[in-house]
Amino acid sequence: MFVSDCISINEKGHLTVGSADTVELAKKFGTPAYVFDENEIRGNLRAFRNSIEDNYGGNGLVCYASKAFSCKEIYRICMQEGTGVDVVSGGELYTALSVGFPAENIVFHGNNKTPDELLMAVGNGVGRIVVDNLTELETLNGIASASGKTVGIMLRIKPGVDAHTHDFIKTGQIDSKFGFALETGEALEAVKAAITMPSLKLRGLHCHIGSQIFDIDPFELAAEVMLGLYKQIKDETGYEFDELNLGGGFGIKYVDGDTPIPYGEYMKNVSAVVRAETEKHGLKMPFILIEPGRSVVGAAGLTLYTVGAVKKIPDIRTYVSVDGGMADNPRYALYGADYQIICANKANEEKNMTVTVAGKCCESGDLIQENAPLQSVEAGDILAVLSTGAYNYSMASNYNRIPKLPVIMVNNGEARTVVRRETYEMVASCDV
Ligand code: LLP
Repeated sequence: MFVSDCISINEKGHLTVGSADTVELAKKFGTPAYVFDENEIRGNLRAFRNSIEDNYGGNGLVCYASKAFSCKEIYRICMQEGTGVDVVSGGELYTALSVGFPAENIVFHGNNKTPDELLMAVGNGVGRIVVDNLTELETLNGIASASGKTVGIMLRIKPGVDAHTHDFIKTGQIDSKFGFALETGEALEAVKAAITMPSLKLRGLHCHIGSQIFDIDPFELAAEVMLGLYKQIKDETGYEFDELNLGGGFGIKYVDGDTPIPYGEYMKNVSAVVRAETEKHGLKMPFILIEPGRSVVGAAGLTLYTVGAVKKIPDIRTYVSVDGGMADNPRYALYGADYQIICANKANEEKNMTVTVAGKCCESGDLIQENAPLQSVEAGDILAVLSTGAYNYSMASNYNRIPKLPVIMVNNGEARTVVRRETYEMVASCDV
């Protein structure tokens, strides 16, 4: 009935998340607000860890892709669960380091890291910097040799695999701003250059084929292609990698009809491919890294809003306006993303309306969803938009100078604030 396992309905007919009554949460913490179920997040991290344990002898590391949702608490949770993290900017790196995240287990991504960001990563001992292009390779080598350190790197490769997902979130094909292309020989050239650089230790290659992927075959194909490249590199240079980073991209359920791959299934199939290909090519079994982002936090989060105006335009549509919008969730405006929406205080009632849920930004495209089935709502009702844990808070803006929402973490019915609500003073705090 619900797209997320941590959602239910209590005896009052109210929607619950992690056993907490969302209507009570709305009263206590105010709306709009993001709410996460901590146990769901931890369970997902463990499921990924166990899948490496069960299928690949534990010879790997789950690196949560923190672009999906980054704040101090999520890095603490990852630390406690024994996973690594993937960061993609100085800001994410700073936040991870600020809670004492072990730098060796940080993977630093980005297609245009600045020299300052590289300096910060090297200075703090980040375990793997994923180099995107030759300019960065040279800059990083310079920074590493000036610091007297040997820096662990991986190279980001575009394996040329079509991931059957939304055009904007596809990344593995040749026409992408990320990484070195395989088909053109660029990847091989980059490897040859990297292995001559004395201050860099090339630990392996990385690929990420896209996001919100439901098919398992593109992942299998990517592993196969990457190991083919490992073989080619070994033949041409004698160099053999210790590691292989296969990225993230595992789809989650936003609406009925979405069919995520069970996490165990992914590792089972991909491990089999890695085993078979390494054997075929006479390579050593690499240490595997995976970078799930959305699948760790997406379905663990929801957003609570209060309904304001309900505008019925006869024969056209009904707008239900809420106290948030594209500033806290730009995904409908950007990707036409689908969501399941429930009236939290009428969760037991039948959905007998079809509505457009609109935000409060000064923009017609500020919609959370069109043609959404919903209970009969009126001003003051609480709406819950499900599966907003990934790429909502992390992609939020202050458009219209709207303060960012707080993040509430629920654990077995107990709720705490892990990110405070912004105030108007905070929004204007950098203004001179
Ligand atoms: N690793 C790399 C190198 C990535 O670029 C990404 C996502 C991930 C891992 C994690 O992918 P995930 O497991 O979350 O699918 N804003 C878009 C998604 C952008 C994904 C960017 N890269 C959205 O809201 O759908």
